[in-house]
Amino acid sequence: MKITFYGHSCFKIITEKGKKILIDPWITNPLSPKEVDTGPYDFILITHAHGDHLGDVLKIAKNENSEIIAIHEIQQYLLNQGISKAIGMNIGGTYQVGDLRFTMVPALHSSSFPDGKYGGAPCGFIITLENEVSIYHAGDTGLFYEMKLIKELYSPKIAFLPIGDHYVMGPKEAAKACDFLRPEIIIPMHYGTFPILTGTVENFEKEIKKYNLSLTIIVLKPGEEITL
Ligand code: NI
Ligand code: MN
Repeated sequence: MKITFYGHSCFKIITEKGKKILIDPWITNPLSPKEVDTGPYDFILITHAHGDHLGDVLKIAKNENSEIIAIHEIQQYLLNQGISKAIGMNIGGTYQVGDLRFTMVPALHSSSFPDGKYGGAPCGFIITLENEVSIYHAGDTGLFYEMKLIKELYSPKIAFLPIGDHYVMGPKEAAKACDFLRPEIIIPMHYGTFPILTGTVENFEKEIKKYNLSLTIIVLKPGEEITL
């Protein structure tokens, strides 16, 4: 599989069988690279309605066959915007399509559209790939104890976790999240985009040393791709 980081919380995943997934499609964020794959994507996942996550979905999704997977309230918004292939779901459920599974899990945050309208509950996603490897994209979240359930039920091998503080977990909380989740690989996200996101990779690495974990922190520069 290939994972590309587009800055902030935006990731592209290409699965072993070539399915293309984009998560939190803010491809015009202040850190995004010059070269961004604008699609078509098979699936676009949205964790919540805040502008830095809903992002450029309307631009990317129009006139394409991408399935947009989001919570019910965001699906309704997308349908109203003329995007017909919006799949609405809710927390706790799994959407199986072919040999991929998208499970919506809780996030401890808020969710409203840029105009202030209610955006449903915020969420994270567990993406279970063809080879049964699971990836956890936590969305925007504070630390919550039920991350232990996410470990128990889905045992994600790879976790994308916010570390930027202020609106989401900071380094201290994200390190504890790793203790709960025990992923093999953690890729930090949602830091450095704006000055107020003060959490740094250096501090996260310091905090994580307090736990005796065998995990690899992979820090991706925006635009950087890894093959796993
Ligand atoms: Ni948010
Ligand atoms: Mn955010």
